[in-house]
Amino acid sequence: MSNGWRVAVVGATGVYGETLLKVLGSREFAVDRLEAVASGASIGRTVEFRHEEQGITALESFDFRAVDFALFAVPAGVALEHAPRAAESGAVVVDASAAFAGDDSVPVIATALNAEAVGDYAERRILRSPAGAALSLARVLRPVVVGPGLVSAHIAAYLAVAGAGRAAIDELAAQCTQLLNGRPVPTAGPAFAARIAFNCIPTVGLVGDDGRTEAERWVTDDLAELAGVPASAIHFSAVHVPAFYGDGFALDFSTRAEAPTADLAALFAAVPGLGLPGGNAPTPAGDAAEQDEVLIGRLRSAAGGQRDHSLWIAADNLRQSALNTVTLVEVLARDHF
Ligand SMILES: NC(=O)c1ccc[n+]([C@@H]2O[C@H](COP(=O)([O-])OP(=O)(O)OC[C@H]3O[C@@H](n4cnc5c(N)ncnc54)[C@H](OP(=O)(O)O)[C@@H]3O)[C@@H](O)[C@H]2O)c1
Repeated sequence: MSNGWRVAVVGATGVYGETLLKVLGSREFAVDRLEAVASGASIGRTVEFRHEEQGITALESFDFRAVDFALFAVPAGVALEHAPRAAESGAVVVDASAAFAGDDSVPVIATALNAEAVGDYAERRILRSPAGAALSLARVLRPVVVGPGLVSAHIAAYLAVAGAGRAAIDELAAQCTQLLNGRPVPTAGPAFAARIAFNCIPTVGLVGDDGRTEAERWVTDDLAELAGVPASAIHFSAVHVPAFYGDGFALDFSTRAEAPTADLAALFAAVPGLGLPGGNAPTPAGDAAEQDEVLIGRLRSAAGGQRDHSLWIAADNLRQSALNTVTLVEVLARDHF
C-alpha cells in the first residue's frame, strides 16, 4: 500500500500554478495523486508534473474529498468562493492570493520565519502564504529587527510582469515583438493600463483612497507581520518593469543601534536562504530568477553614520511563493498528520 499524499493544484494552468508544479515536483515529497484543476475553459489541456502529462479538471465540479492538500493559485475572488468549500470537504488549503489577507482566522505562514504557526490551521483548515515580495523582503528585514533593531524601511520594488500572471507575460512579449518590428502597439492592453514594453508602470494593481496600490497595501501589511514591526515602519513603492521573471528591490533602512556595515554583512551571511554573491551586484533575471535564494548586494551605510543603510536585493518572488507553499505542506504533512 502506498503512503504518499493526494494534492490538488488549483489554477494549475497559470504562472503561479505552473511554478508550484515545478517546485513540488523537484522536492522529495511523496505525491500519490496529483490533481490539476483550473477553469472549465482549460478542459482538454494538460500540464506537466514529474515528467507526466496531467489532464485538467474543472474547479466548479471538483470534489475536494479526493485530496489531502489543495494548493490554490487562482485569483482572489475565485479563492474566496472555493477555498472554504475545499476546506469543508476535508482538504487543507494553502492559498497564495490576497483573498484572506487581514482575516485573523487564516494564519499567514512563512516557513522560514514562523513554521510553528502551521499548527493553527485547524480552525478553518485554510492557511495563507504571504505576498511573494513580502517573503523575499522579510528574509532580509527580520534579522535586522532581531539584531540591531529596525526603525524604518523604505523600499522601491522593481517587479517583473510574471507577478501579474500569464496575460501580463503575453502582453509584454507581444508588445516587444510589435515594437521591434516597427509596428505600433496600443497604449493599454488587457493586463496593463499603459504600455509595458520598454517602459515602467508605477502602479501595481488599483490605487485605493489612501493613494496606495493593492500590491503596496498587501506587501506592506504582510511584511510588517512577518518582520514583527508596525506597518507604519514600512514604506513600500512598487513599479512594474519590462522584465519577465526576477524582481529587484532598493532598500534603505535605519537601525535602532549602530550597526557597522561589516557587522550587517556578517548578520546576513548567517541567514539560511540569503545569499551574498561575490560580484556584489546580483541581477533579478540573470542571477535570481528560478533560484531559491534571495540575493543581496551593494550593502553600504550613509557617510559618517552607522544607523542608516542601503542595500540591493534580487529575488524571484514567484519562486519564493511556490517554495513557501510547498515547504508549508511538507511541515503540515510531517508534523500534523
Ligand atoms: N504570479 C505570481 O508571481 C504569484 C505569486 C504568488 C501568488 N500568486 C497568486 O496566484 C493567483 C494566480 O496568479 P497567476 O499569476 O498564476 O495568474 P494567471 O497566470 O492568470 O493564472 C490564473 C489561474 O487561475 C485559474 N482561474 C482563473 N479563473 C478561474 C475560475 N473562475 N475557476 C477556476 N480557475 C480559474 C486560471 O485557469 P484557466 O487557465 O483555466 O483560466 C489559471 O490557472 C493570484 O491570486 C495571485 O495573486 C501569484
